[in-house]
Amino acid sequence: MRWIRAAGRGLLVAAVVVSGYVAKDASGVGARDDGRGPMTLATAGDLTDYLGPLLAGWNRTHPDEKVTLVELPDSADETHAQMVTELRSDRGRFDILNIDVAWTPEFAAAGWISPLDRDRFPLRGFLPPVVGTATYDDKLYAVPYVTNAGMLFYRKDILDREGEQPPRTWRELERQARTIAPKHGLGGYAGQFLPYEGLTVNAAEAVYSAGGSILGDEGERVTVDSAAARDGLGFLARGVRDGWIPREALTYKEEESRKAFQNGRLLFLRNWPYAYAGISGKTSEVAGKFGAVPLPGADGPGTSVLGGSNLAVNADARHPDSAADLIAYLTSEPVQRKVLTEGAQPPVLAALYRDPDLVREYPYLPALRTSVLAAAPRPKSPRYDQVSLAVQAVAHDAMAQHQSPAAAVRRLARELAAIARRQG
Ligand code: GLC
Repeated sequence: MRWIRAAGRGLLVAAVVVSGYVAKDASGVGARDDGRGPMTLATAGDLTDYLGPLLAGWNRTHPDEKVTLVELPDSADETHAQMVTELRSDRGRFDILNIDVAWTPEFAAAGWISPLDRDRFPLRGFLPPVVGTATYDDKLYAVPYVTNAGMLFYRKDILDREGEQPPRTWRELERQARTIAPKHGLGGYAGQFLPYEGLTVNAAEAVYSAGGSILGDEGERVTVDSAAARDGLGFLARGVRDGWIPREALTYKEEESRKAFQNGRLLFLRNWPYAYAGISGKTSEVAGKFGAVPLPGADGPGTSVLGGSNLAVNADARHPDSAADLIAYLTSEPVQRKVLTEGAQPPVLAALYRDPDLVREYPYLPALRTSVLAAAPRPKSPRYDQVSLAVQAVAHDAMAQHQSPAAAVRRLARELAAIARRQG
């Protein structure tokens, strides 16, 4: 198959050289020799189903540069696996990749994505930390598109009835989850605890929120062997052991955890802001009965992991100029506004967080901006995939009571050191 494609491309080039202009590509639409033409955009599952209609807007005004959306699974790890398989075997199939912010170094170091021209995108208007997730080796390898920070959703109706405030520390959360939730027939607390990237995020947040860290910035120095990391994993493991984290939560990704809260089964939920739309929607059992606050930490406010995704151009993209234009469109003000109003995803454009109309409609915006600005990025490692697998595995073992938090942290330190050695 590959050689047929390659031969096809050769013919295309020949046709272009001879005629100076158009050939037909596989989609049957005219492809020109100036880097312009149709393209595909691959993304992880679109949890709020807004990307199709959004891209239809582009397609209406760009009939020769239409974009086809390829939706991969909801789980970040499965999407990562499929993208990497494609990039390794048939590099041209996805022209634009909506990649998790954590993957930029890996994709850039592997040569799968092209450096981009900084002047072509409105980087100065973005929230500053998001630009850092798109750069590697001092070059811009992707353009921030959506940002993310974890929030704590809580049942306001129940805490009000009990004369309680939403928790700001783990001690408060733990007490309320342990004593109040069962009185109301609810599970206490859940996040994304299935072993996949979501668990890496939740475990990292627990470690950071206790004042610890996992790796030094570029992934070469292992810093996880600390009392803070033991406290962080200890918090999650104790929740399962003592029953205020329901065991079922060990199978949750974003959507399962959202539904559990939305169906009135949980007192507290850690999730991304996208969940706000569903939880306040028509089919929610708890619409009008919940609130959202920053994540609590060991002794005070917690620290979220910086989430979100960046748009990157495949190094073998068929039409890189159209791809860059599409990325500029997706990061323009009107489209970034729709990312929030239609996609319920946090935009990367800073000004939108101060827009009075939007703040009225999305009251969590100012708190979210603060959380994003204070969020901790994941380590910038070209081996991030392996780092994440190690974190997930030990966090899962600690939560499933297979290993004590102290032993889990020691094991993680050893595994991360082995990954760093391979990288060096
Ligand atoms: C969200 C975040 C992403 C994170 C993932 C984990 O999609 O935006 O950064 O890796 O959740 O499940």
